[in-house]
Amino acid sequence: MLKSVENLINQIRALCRSPLSPDERWRAAAGHVRTLLADPELSEHAKHWPISPAILGLQGKHANLLFYEDPDHGFVLNGLIKRAEARTTIHDHGRSHTIYGVVFGAETVARYAVSGQLPLVDGNEPELLARARVAATERVEVGAGHVDYIAPWEVHAEFNGADTTAALILRSQRSGTFVQNIFHPDAGTVEQYHGPRQIPYELG
Ligand SMILES: [Fe+2]
Repeated sequence: MLKSVENLINQIRALCRSPLSPDERWRAAAGHVRTLLADPELSEHAKHWPISPAILGLQGKHANLLFYEDPDHGFVLNGLIKRAEARTTIHDHGRSHTIYGVVFGAETVARYAVSGQLPLVDGNEPELLARARVAATERVEVGAGHVDYIAPWEVHAEFNGADTTAALILRSQRSGTFVQNIFHPDAGTVEQYHGPRQIPYELG
């Protein structure tokens, strides 16, 4: 494990033990991820993260490398490689909190407003939807060192340009332990899934 990543894990563990609200906790965590991204060892390491087109860097549902899962607090560290011209779906991260840090490359982050929601009849979370309309509200071009805090149910997408991008992602809980929405803007439909496939990978 890289020393700077070990430091980050200890900082997040301390935040998890603190009396902060979840929103305050994960905003503070974003500052620590920003510090980690300045470590040249991390970007050097990220150059060797696998980019098999079969599992990573596909259009839509990208798989994640799983570097670490905290045994006490459940947060995880993921890696994500997206190849040039890759596009994610328009999606949220369900009830989880996410800190998304760009290690290298450049991409556009878009955010969306949701209207006309029809909740899933059987969903036990009212934010899980059967139908909804989405409209882009913001498009921001970001590059290495950028850190984004994605609050629960916040709808967004990422679009790559000519660069391959690597991201380090801190999630409050592992994908697979919560349900998220994927929005299909043309049809107005919403699909549920359990998040990206998790591929264990050693960060060190
Ligand atoms: Fe996302």
